Amino acid sequence: MLEIFNPNSTDSAGLTEYAPDSTAAGTLVFYHASQGKPLATPWQVALARSTLLTQLSLPEGYILDCACGSGIQLGAHMALLQRPGIGVELDVMRAQASAVNLQSIAQYRNELNSVRMQNTRIVAGDGRDGASVCSAIAEHLNSERLPPIALLHLDPARPRNSRTHGLDEMAPRLDEVFKGWAPYLAEGENGPALLLDLSPRLTHEQRLAVERMVDEVWNGITRTWVWTSRGRGRVDRLALWLGSASTAGVARRFVRIPPSITEEAYVISGGESLASGDGLPVHLRQPPRRGERISILDAALVESGLADEWLKSVTKSEHITWGDVEGRRPQIHHKHPLRLENEMDRMLVQATGRVVALARIQLGLDTVDQLVELVLEHDVAKMTIRVPLAPEIQPKIQGAIDRQLARRHGRREAFLVQQPGDEMFLICIAE
Ligand SMILES: C[S@@+](CC[C@H](N)C(=O)[O-])C[C@H]1O[C@@H](n2cnc3c(N)ncnc32)[C@H](O)[C@@H]1O
Repeated sequence: MLEIFNPNSTDSAGLTEYAPDSTAAGTLVFYHASQGKPLATPWQVALARSTLLTQLSLPEGYILDCACGSGIQLGAHMALLQRPGIGVELDVMRAQASAVNLQSIAQYRNELNSVRMQNTRIVAGDGRDGASVCSAIAEHLNSERLPPIALLHLDPARPRNSRTHGLDEMAPRLDEVFKGWAPYLAEGENGPALLLDLSPRLTHEQRLAVERMVDEVWNGITRTWVWTSRGRGRVDRLALWLGSASTAGVARRFVRIPPSITEEAYVISGGESLASGDGLPVHLRQPPRRGERISILDAALVESGLADEWLKSVTKSEHITWGDVEGRRPQIHHKHPLRLENEMDRMLVQATGRVVALARIQLGLDTVDQLVELVLEHDVAKMTIRVPLAPEIQPKIQGAIDRQLARRHGRREAFLVQQPGDEMFLICIAE
């Protein structure tokens, strides 16, 4: 017999791990168990995805999260889509925590007595076993029919603290979940709806391997890959939205979660399918020139393969040369300023400006004077180093530059860049 929790009547007895969600403006406190907090989806990220789902037409039925952890993503989907939910979690204490968290979310939204909450359950069991979960729920709810599943959400656990991991290290495994649930998923306009929450650490080859696993069960199902970033150039989540959860004609999507929960996420859609390549721009080494513009873009946007698409919206048929594609400071060279009228577009640019001087020096504390003299010829008041330097030396050099410039009378802001593999430093006036 599977243990089933009814969120409306489960309490927190025995649960000791809890914490306010830092992205929910202090309004929600969530329970976790078995050190589940780092696995949980932040409330703001969960809401952003659920919001995107509301724009689609899902089949009728339940939201299923078959590895629901603390139930946060499940709770967000249920609340925004106004659907009942089924959560499955192997760890019994986490299953209980999920039930309590769904109750807190419903209470916060004043929806505890809704029909959808009355029909919602968390099952402590194996999320790969659709047959057992569906029949246990039907029996528990005294229903003659198995619960129709409108959306399957899967956020499997994966090894922590390692840069890479194999697809078979995901728990539960994708292929096993697909086989276990395929017969129970309701069909929408574009087939069943699935949202697979994967790790941004997957290589391009592994992403293609995920697609092959999907095709083995739902051959040719439509798909949208979604890169989500909370800033600092990091991809926080990589997800594959399938079938009725995908958007027709959109192979890739970049979602930038804004700093505040009250603002809407910034979404860029387009791109080529993953089968046609990783979508990264082609790096071209070209001697730097005075007068040209250099911009350092958001690394997560570049990773999504949508940077060229976005650049078309902020330039006028501009020829762009990619000086650096990988790493934390992807760099482009161009002739005219970028058109960054809107705040969100500005958020996707770390720095942009015009090259006013080239300096061939060995950057160190002993050469700061030389650099500052050169910079002062261009009326600079402040210059930010944007070149890779050892973390122990970077703040020292930046501090020395700041101190020297503070004593002089420049007016403009500048930044310092370098092209990979080139010794030349480029001084750019920020625009
Ligand atoms: C990354 S967490 C999910 C977090 C969730 N999205 C949230 O918002 O809290 C993955 C969960 O899968 C659970 N899990 C692993 N194997 C499972 C299985 N076979 N069946 C059900 N749950 C499983 C783990 O215990 C873990 O809690």
